[in-house]
Amino acid sequence: MSTAIKDYWNQRARQAAESPTATTDDIHLRELEIRTFTEAIQRLNLPDDSAVVDVGCGDGFSTLQIAERLPKLRFTGVDYSEAMIATAQRRAADMAGRLGRPVEFRVGDATALEGLFPAGSLDVVLTDRCLINLTSPEAQYDAIRQLHTLLKPGGRYLAIENFTSGQEELNRTRAALGLKEIPVRWHNLFFREDEYLAKMRTLYRQVEIVNFSSAYYYATRVIYSKYCQMRGEEPDYRHEIHQLAVQLPPMGAFSPIKLAILTK
Ligand SMILES: C[S@@+](CC[C@H](N)C(=O)[O-])C[C@H]1O[C@@H](n2cnc3c(N)ncnc32)[C@H](O)[C@@H]1O
Repeated sequence: MSTAIKDYWNQRARQAAESPTATTDDIHLRELEIRTFTEAIQRLNLPDDSAVVDVGCGDGFSTLQIAERLPKLRFTGVDYSEAMIATAQRRAADMAGRLGRPVEFRVGDATALEGLFPAGSLDVVLTDRCLINLTSPEAQYDAIRQLHTLLKPGGRYLAIENFTSGQEELNRTRAALGLKEIPVRWHNLFFREDEYLAKMRTLYRQVEIVNFSSAYYYATRVIYSKYCQMRGEEPDYRHEIHQLAVQLPPMGAFSPIKLAILTK
C-alpha cells in the first residue's frame, strides 16, 4: 500500500509537469493554506535565519510561496517522491532571483527523518496534508515523534492535516441538504482528533487546533455543492465561489482540514 501511495504521488508530479495542480486540484484551498502558514510563522517573531523545514513539500509550490513571503527565514523542503522534488528544484531555480537566497529541496521520508537533520536543530517544522498518507496511526504518531526530536526546545510543529471530526461534521451538514457523503480517498488516513490531542499533549507544551478552512468548506462543499445539485451540474474547482470563499472569516468546524500549532 505505501509503495502504491508513493507511486501515485510520483505519477501526479510527472503528469502535472509545471502546473500548480500536482498536489491538489483545489488551488484556492492551497492558497488559504499558504496564507495560514505564513501568518502563523509571522506571529512567532523568529530571529533571522531561523530554520523552517516543510516535510512532504510535494512540488515545492507552497514552500516557495511561503519562503518568498518570509525572506529572512531559511527554508528546506523534503518529500519522498523523487518526481515532486525534481519539480520543486526546478521551481526554486526559476524563482532564485525573487527568493534572494537558496531554498533547498531533498528527497527524504517522513518515517525516517532522524538522519536527515541533527536532533534539536529546527525552529519550525511544517507538514501540509502529508502524514495522512501514512498507512497506520502507529506510523503517523511515530513520524510526529521524530519531528519532535528534530525541533529545538521551544520550536513549533505547524501541521495542516485532516481529521475525522471535521469530515463527519461536513457530511452531517451535507446529508441534511440531501447531498451525498464525501468519502476519504483511498490513499488517506485521517487523524481522530481526540486521540491526536491526547498524544500531542504528552509530547508538546502547548497544543492548539485552528479550524482555518471551515468557512471555505461550508461555502464550497455545502452551499456550492447544493447549488450545483439544484442545477444538475458537476462542481468545478475553478468556479468563482472558491475565490470568494477563501476571503471568509473563520466560522464553525465544517472542514476535515485543520491547523495544529504545537510548541515543544
Ligand atoms: C497532498 S500532497 C501535499 C504536498 C504539499 N505539502 C502541498 O501542500 O502542496 C502530499 C505530499 O506528501 C508526500 N508524502 C507522502 N508520504 C510521505 C512520506 N512518508 N515521506 C515524505 N513525503 C511524503 C507526497 O509525496 C506528496 O507530495
